[in-house]
Amino acid sequence: MKVLVAGGAGYIGSHCVRQLQAAGHSPIVVDNLVFGHRQAIAADIPFYPLDLGDHKAMVRLLDQEKIELVMHFAAFAYVGESVTDPRGYYENNSVATLRLLEAMLDVGVGKFVFSSTCATYGEPEKLPITEDLPQSPINPYGQTKLDVEHMLKAFAHAYGMSFAAFRYFNAAGAAEDGSIGEDHNPETHLIPLVIDAATGKRENIKIFGTDYPTPDGTCLRDYVHVDDLSRAHIAAFPLLENKGQQLFYNLGTGKPNSVREIITAVEAVSGLKVPLVEAPRRAGDPPALYADSSKAMRELGWQLQYPDVTKTIETAWRWHRDHPNGFV
Ligand SMILES: NC(=O)c1ccc[n+]([C@@H]2O[C@H](COP(=O)([O-])OP(=O)(O)OC[C@H]3O[C@@H](n4cnc5c(N)ncnc54)[C@H](O)[C@@H]3O)[C@@H](O)[C@H]2O)c1
Repeated sequence: MKVLVAGGAGYIGSHCVRQLQAAGHSPIVVDNLVFGHRQAIAADIPFYPLDLGDHKAMVRLLDQEKIELVMHFAAFAYVGESVTDPRGYYENNSVATLRLLEAMLDVGVGKFVFSSTCATYGEPEKLPITEDLPQSPINPYGQTKLDVEHMLKAFAHAYGMSFAAFRYFNAAGAAEDGSIGEDHNPETHLIPLVIDAATGKRENIKIFGTDYPTPDGTCLRDYVHVDDLSRAHIAAFPLLENKGQQLFYNLGTGKPNSVREIITAVEAVSGLKVPLVEAPRRAGDPPALYADSSKAMRELGWQLQYPDVTKTIETAWRWHRDHPNGFV
């Protein structure tokens, strides 16, 4: 299929482009490079440096490239910033997505795959998190993603659009061959931050909260390999052939790791000591968040190639070791 990958120069999108090619699809990337990296996309992949909010340009692109399906990774994703300065989040995550869906309707492209997030659940009532739990985001970032989920339901109902919305837990790792990986600026994700502390790129890693009701007192999160995420997206394509299809899936390993476990695993993989500082809890950090992904496994035949976080960290370590300054 000819697949438009919006935000395809970003971390998860660029890995998905690789997986699409490997599965025999033809990816076409659109990214305004506000965060992404042109170098993350191979030279032979068509690349359009456009903003999704540019309705005219998007209509032209969807039409000219005869796009059959759109995968949408483009968003702002800094939770803290979404609280202090939410305007851009509603504009870029909710409104720009509406513009993209309108362009699809104008051209008659009816299949959509969306990057949602476990942040739509807020502080969950129970664990592991299943798709049917109430969604009650505790920050504007999560709210903008939930807004899009609601938009998608309405578009499926009214216009017969088919979609799969994937609620990711913590995306982690890098391509197995070490050629692309995570390069966010600023970086807020734990594994790259711990690696930076190990290599001396940052002074230390702060552990926010050591008195949580968890086995070692630190928060538990679910780290899922970026290539495993990508494969789930592609596995949903056949189901999107049915008009009006509405699919929601959690994507995580279901095996949470604590902050201390991640630090220990980075030390084991890198052979380096990680300097750490213990700090008080941060507001809005639940003790544990992890997925029940059995629905994706059952319905999409999704299987984890990286069930063990140490293997995921090995891929991240290779990327960061060999590219200490990211894509520059
Ligand atoms: N990384 C995670 O752990 C995680 C977890 C849950 C959900 N998500 C979601 O997954 C998606 C991808 O995350 P990521 O970590 O790869 O982020 P990223 O910032 O690396 O990638 C997003 C890409 O979208 C592009 N972009 C943003 N706004 C755009 C616009 N208006 N027009 C064109 N391009 C635009 C950016 O330049 C960037 O290349 C996001 O929607 C994010 O909310 C990520």
